[in-house]
Amino acid sequence: MPAIVIVGAQWGDEGKGKIVDIFTEHADMVVRFGGGPNAGHTLVVGDDKLIVRLIPSGVLRPMTTCVLAQGMVIDPKSLVTELDELEHRGLRTAGRLVVSDRAHSILPYHVLVDGLREQGKGAIGTTKRGVGPCYEDKVARRGISLGALRDRTRLDALVGRALESWAPTIRELGGSVPTVSEILDAIEPARARIVGMLVNSQALIERAVRDNKCVVFEGAQGTLLDVDHGTYPFVTSSSPTAGGACVGSGVGPTRINEVVGLVKAYTTRVGGGPFPTELLDETGERIRKVGDEFGSVTGRPRRTGWIDLPGLRYAASVNGLDALAITKVDVLTGLSEIKACVAYDTPRGRTTDLPIDELDRAVPVYKTFRGWKKELGSARTMDDLPIEAREYLQFIQSEVGCPAVLVSVGSRREETIILRDPFSKRA
Ligand code: GDP
Ligand code: IMO
Ligand code: MG
Repeated sequence: MPAIVIVGAQWGDEGKGKIVDIFTEHADMVVRFGGGPNAGHTLVVGDDKLIVRLIPSGVLRPMTTCVLAQGMVIDPKSLVTELDELEHRGLRTAGRLVVSDRAHSILPYHVLVDGLREQGKGAIGTTKRGVGPCYEDKVARRGISLGALRDRTRLDALVGRALESWAPTIRELGGSVPTVSEILDAIEPARARIVGMLVNSQALIERAVRDNKCVVFEGAQGTLLDVDHGTYPFVTSSSPTAGGACVGSGVGPTRINEVVGLVKAYTTRVGGGPFPTELLDETGERIRKVGDEFGSVTGRPRRTGWIDLPGLRYAASVNGLDALAITKVDVLTGLSEIKACVAYDTPRGRTTDLPIDELDRAVPVYKTFRGWKKELGSARTMDDLPIEAREYLQFIQSEVGCPAVLVSVGSRREETIILRDPFSKRA
C-alpha cells in the first residue's frame, strides 16, 4: 500500500479538500505537512459543507488517523475552534487526531504583526493568520513549538523572549505590545486541550509507512506560492511542493509512491502578485460567479483567469508529478470559447517555459478551444463529457505530460470521474 502526496499545482484553492476526502476513503492516515490556518479546504457531502483549515481533509472518514505534522504552524485557538465545530457536527476525533509536538505555535503577536503589516505599503495580501511571522520565528530559531505548551513556566519565559524581539516591530507598525500574561491567558483554555493530543508524529508516520498502510500527504496552498519555487515575494512562507511533504513530516523521499497535482480547469489567485492569464473582464467575472471563487478563509474575491500550461509544466517538474487531478471543469460550461496559455512572449523572445521572474512583463500566447453547453455534474465517465470538454482535457494532459487520475465536475463527492485508483500505481 503506497504513500501518496497531493499538492496544489497552481496558486492554491484547486480543490484539495474535495480530492483528499475522496482519496482517503480507504486510507489509514492523512497527514498535513505544512502551512496553517491560511489554508481553507472545502468538503461537500450531500447538502453539508465543511471547511477545514488546520485539520486534515480526511477527517470525515471515521477510520482514518489525522496527523498535523511538524512542518505546520498551528494557532492553538483556531485548532480548538475547529475541533469544537467538528464535535458540534457529531464528528468524533478523540484518539484519531494527533498533533506533532514539534509543530510551531502561532501566538497572538504573530497575528497582530501580520495584520499590521498588511495595512502598510509592503502588503502582499496575506490571510492575516500570523503564518508568515510564525515561520519567521521558526527560522530565526526563537519559535515556540507546541511541545513547549506542556510546561507553563517555560512557556512564560519563551513568550517573554519572543515579545522582546517583536516589540520594536509592533511599535514601529503602530501597534501596542501585549503582555506575557495577556498572551498566556488568551491561549490557556486551548493549551490544556492540545497538550493531550501531542505526539512524535514523525515516528507515527514512519511506522504507518513501514507497515504498508495507505498514507495520504495533504498539501496546502499551491506550487506557485512556495517560498522557494513560487512567485516570490508574493508567496506563503512554507514549502507546499512535494518535497515539502518530506521535510514537513519527516517521511523519507524514497517512501513516496505517487505525487498527484491538483489543477483547476482555469486559474485563480487570492492576494497580490503577478497573474498573466488573469481575466479582468466579463468572462473573469462569470468564472468567479459560477465557480463561487471567494476565499474560504477570508471571503475575498479570487482573481480568475485562463489555465496556464507553462505554469503547470513547471509545477509538474518541481513536484515530479505522476498524475493530475483536474477540478472545476463544470464551471467552464456555457462559455463560447475557452483559452489555454501555451507559451509566453517575453522581452527575450517566446518561450514555452514559465518565465517566473518576468511574469509581470510576460504576454500569454493562447490556443483557443470550442466551448460546450452541456451541464457536467452528472458525468461519471469521460464518455459522458461533450467532445469539446474531452478535447480540452486531453490537451492539458498531453501538454503537461501527465495523465489524469480524476476529473471533478462539481463540489460534491459523487460529482467525480475516477479514472484510476491513485493507490494502484505501485501498490
Ligand atoms: P482547496 O483549498 O484546494 O481545498 O480548495 P477550496 O476548498 O479553497 O476551494 C475550492 C472550491 O471549489 C470549494 O468551494 C469546493 O467546494 C469547490 N469545488 C471543488 N471541486 C469542484 C468542482 O469540480 N466543481 C465545482 N463547481 N466546485 C468544486
Ligand atoms: P489553500 O490550502 C490560496 C496566499 C495568500 C497570500 C499569500 C501569503 O486553501 O489552497 P499567508 O497568509 O500564507 O502569509 O499569505 O498566500 N495563500 C493562499 N491562497 N489558497 C491558500 O491555501 C492560501 N494560503 C495562502 O492569499 O497571497
Ligand atoms: Mg482553499
